[in-house]
Amino acid sequence: MACASFAKLNAASSQWIGGHQSFSQRPRLATRRVSLPAIRAGAYTDELIKTAKTIASPGRGILAIDESNATCGRRLSSIGLDNTEPNRQAYRQLLLTTPGLGEYISGAILFEETLYQSTTDSKKFVDVLCDQKIVPGIKVDKGLVPLPGSNNESWCQGLDGLSSRSAEYYQQGARFAKWRTVVSIPCGPSALAVKEAAWGLARYAAISQDNGLVPIVEPEILLDGDHPIERTLEVAEKVWAEVFYYLAENNVIFEGILLKPSMVTPGAEHKEKASPDTIAKYTLTMLRRRVPPAVPGIMFLSGGQSEVEATLNLNAMNQSPNPWHVSFSYARALQNTVLKTWQGRPENVEAAQKALLVRAKANSLAQLGKYSAEGESEEAKKGMFVKGYTY
Ligand code: 13P
Repeated sequence: MACASFAKLNAASSQWIGGHQSFSQRPRLATRRVSLPAIRAGAYTDELIKTAKTIASPGRGILAIDESNATCGRRLSSIGLDNTEPNRQAYRQLLLTTPGLGEYISGAILFEETLYQSTTDSKKFVDVLCDQKIVPGIKVDKGLVPLPGSNNESWCQGLDGLSSRSAEYYQQGARFAKWRTVVSIPCGPSALAVKEAAWGLARYAAISQDNGLVPIVEPEILLDGDHPIERTLEVAEKVWAEVFYYLAENNVIFEGILLKPSMVTPGAEHKEKASPDTIAKYTLTMLRRRVPPAVPGIMFLSGGQSEVEATLNLNAMNQSPNPWHVSFSYARALQNTVLKTWQGRPENVEAAQKALLVRAKANSLAQLGKYSAEGESEEAKKGMFVKGYTY
């Protein structure tokens, strides 16, 4: 591929010069060979680029259902269910077997338990996804722990043994990975916490690519705080600058990654709310300043916004062309109405699956910049922000 583009570039430049001068008359500078920056060759390079492009395909985004057992338990207890493996399996089965899901969903992030699990009639969840042309993904981080020496901040564990775990996940059918670390604005953020978050993400990304998994790079900037939107912009720019610095230092292939940023909004406790247009303006400003166009896709997290808010904000970001695919990778903003509709009852499964399709389609339209909130339910407008949320 690099060779073909190289030939094109040379052909174009000789045409441009050739109009007026013969080959021998050309100034020395113009005859220099133009070499394109090489993409680090690895066993999986082509596949990584293809996987990332498939996930970042028009009108589609990611369904995130990678809640740890503890977080899934909180979801289940909100509708009166116990946190048992059969209940987690029933819930994931409801989501993943939704007919027609693949039209709007290109990837699904799973927790390890689900990657190795099957439906109640013994079909592997991975196969259920592949039949719908949905790429299976896996959460690989091991969660957050306090970061000593910081301002009550945290760091994300999971690098030890990551290479062998990733190779096994690939064998099991996963083709992309997710690592979520967090940055807290009210806690500073300290330079130490930002550096640690960025370095951890970069090491994880390099290890994932080495094992054939497209890394989703997610430094979540928490909604917590009463700061204005300008402060979020400042912190997001700092964080992403550092993340890209270390991604480059670790020779990560930018064409084979996906980003999962928080939208740039005021803190959840700020006195004024921002409109979707303002959020889109600040978020796109931050991304244009920090994210190279080689990155194929930006897949936002919802972070505690209501389902409708998350969709409206995404729609506002797609009102004019962007250098990257701008889409969604929501957990709460795709699952809230589904859970409330299901209530753990088999007779509600079909209605709950329809509710998931409604949200998936709404976000698909928002990815294309064609969504309108007309007719959305009151439930879908309820915010889901939880102070100090853990995933
Ligand atoms: P939310 O959309 O609920 O913020 O999910 C974040 C996440 O990282 C899920 O994979």
